[in-house]
Amino acid sequence: MNITIVGTGYVGLVSGACFSEMGSTVTCVDVDEQKIENLKKGILPIYEPGLENLVIENHKEGLLRFTTSLESAAQECDVFFIAVGTPPDEDGSADLQYVLQVARNIGRVINSYTVIVDKSTVPVGTADKVKKVVQESLDKRGSDLEFDVVSNPEFLKEGAAVNDFLSPDRIIVGCDSPRAIKLMKRLYAPFSRNRDKLITMKVRDAEMTKYAVNSMLATKISFMNEMATICERLGVDVENVRKGIGSDQRIGYSFIYPGCGYGGSCFPKDVNALIRTSRDMGVEPHVLASVARRNSLQKEVLGNKIKERFGNDLCGKIFCIWGLSFKPGTDDMREAPAIVLINELVAAGATVHAYDPVAMTQAVGEFSPSFFQENRLRLFKTPYDALVDTDALVLVTEWKTFRQPAFQAMAKVMRQQILFDGRNLYDPGEVQEHGFEYHGIGRNF
Ligand code: UGA
Repeated sequence: MNITIVGTGYVGLVSGACFSEMGSTVTCVDVDEQKIENLKKGILPIYEPGLENLVIENHKEGLLRFTTSLESAAQECDVFFIAVGTPPDEDGSADLQYVLQVARNIGRVINSYTVIVDKSTVPVGTADKVKKVVQESLDKRGSDLEFDVVSNPEFLKEGAAVNDFLSPDRIIVGCDSPRAIKLMKRLYAPFSRNRDKLITMKVRDAEMTKYAVNSMLATKISFMNEMATICERLGVDVENVRKGIGSDQRIGYSFIYPGCGYGGSCFPKDVNALIRTSRDMGVEPHVLASVARRNSLQKEVLGNKIKERFGNDLCGKIFCIWGLSFKPGTDDMREAPAIVLINELVAAGATVHAYDPVAMTQAVGEFSPSFFQENRLRLFKTPYDALVDTDALVLVTEWKTFRQPAFQAMAKVMRQQILFDGRNLYDPGEVQEHGFEYHGIGRNF
C-alpha cells in the first residue's frame, strides 16, 4: 500500500519507519526542509532505540521516502496519516491549528478516494473538524472526490517506540465507513499475524480511548505516589506494598512504580486536556484533577527531602544528579522531574553536577544560561566524574547504566555518602552496607 505520513516527530517518524518495514511504501512529509534533508542522509531528529537502522535500511530500499511536498506525496496515495503536534493551549486544551492546516492542504492535493487518518492525539470531535476542512478544500476546487476520516490513535512509548509499534497490544480504529475499515485492516494485517489486534469503533469513541488510556496510566502512577507518601509516614515500605498489590491480576505490576513524578509530552498534556474537555462539558473531573495535582507535588518530593536533610539554605552544597530525561531510553526533557529539582536546588543556593547518558544536549536548553555561566549547573561526561566532591547523589532517571554502580569507589570520591533514590532503584540494605545514608520514595530505611 502507498501511504503518506505528515509530520516527522516521534509518532510520524516511527510510524513511517515501521509501516515501511512491514512492506508499505511510505512517504514522510514535513515542512522543515533541514529535517527532511537530514533524514535523507540518515540523520534523525530524535534518539529512539532501533529507529535509525529502520530509517536508513528502508530509505535505501526505496520503501521510505522523505519530502517537503505534500502534492508529490499525494500521487498514488491510499492513506494519509496526520501526525503533527497538538501542543497545549494556555488553558490546557490541545491546539489543533497544525492538524487542521494539514487537513486543509490534503483536501487541496488528493486526486482519488482517500482515507485520512488522525494519528496525533486529538480531542473528541476532531475527526469531524478534519472532515469539514477537507470538504471545504474540495468544494473550493469544485471537486466531488470521496474521502473518509479515521481516528487511529498511537500508543507507543518513547524509548520502546519501534517495538511498541511493530508489536502493539491492540490497534484502535475509529471509523464510520466500511470502505475505510477494509483499507485499515489491509494496512495493519502484517501487525496482527498471530491474533486479530484491530478493534473497530466509532470515531469519537476511538478519540476518547486514547485520552482514557493515558489518564488511567497516569492515575495508577499518581495513586502509587500517594501511597508512597502515606507509607513513609506510617513506617511502611511502599516497595513491598507494590509487589503485594501488583500480584493481584486485576491490578497488575505495570505503571505502579512510585517515583519523583511522571513527565514527558503525553501524560501531563493529555490529563490536562481531558480535564479541560470535561469542564467544558460541565463535568468536574475530580479524579483527573487530583492526578495532575499529585504529580505536581511529586516533582517537588526530592527537593523537599534534600531540604529536610540539609536545611533550606543549600549554599556551599554540591549535588550530583544522575539522569535528566523524563525517563530512560530517550533524550526527551519535556516535563522532566529533573528540571523542577535542579531549579529548586539552584534557587536554594546549591551547585549541581549532572550526568545523563543521552539527554545532555537537550538538557542545556532547559535551564537558564546563567546556571552554566556561573557554574551552578555543570554537566559531566561520566557518572563518576559528576560525583567528585558532592554532598549527595540524587538518582532521578533509572537508566540501566545506573543499576549497579561501584558504591565503594563512589563513597571515596564523595564529600558525604548520601543517596536520594528518586526511582527506588536500589536495595537500601546493600547501599547502607557500603556506608551510604539512603533516602527513597515511600521507604523507611
Ligand atoms: C505514554 C504512554 O505510555 C504511551 O502508551 C502513549 O502512546 C504515549 O504516552 C503517548 O501518548 O504518546 P511515554 O510518555 O513515552 O508514553 O512514557 P511512559 O513510559 O508511559 O512514561 C511516562 C512517565 O511515567 C515517565 O516519566 C515515567 O518515569 C513515569 N512512570 C511510568 C512512573 O513514574 N511510574 C511507572 O510505574 C511508570
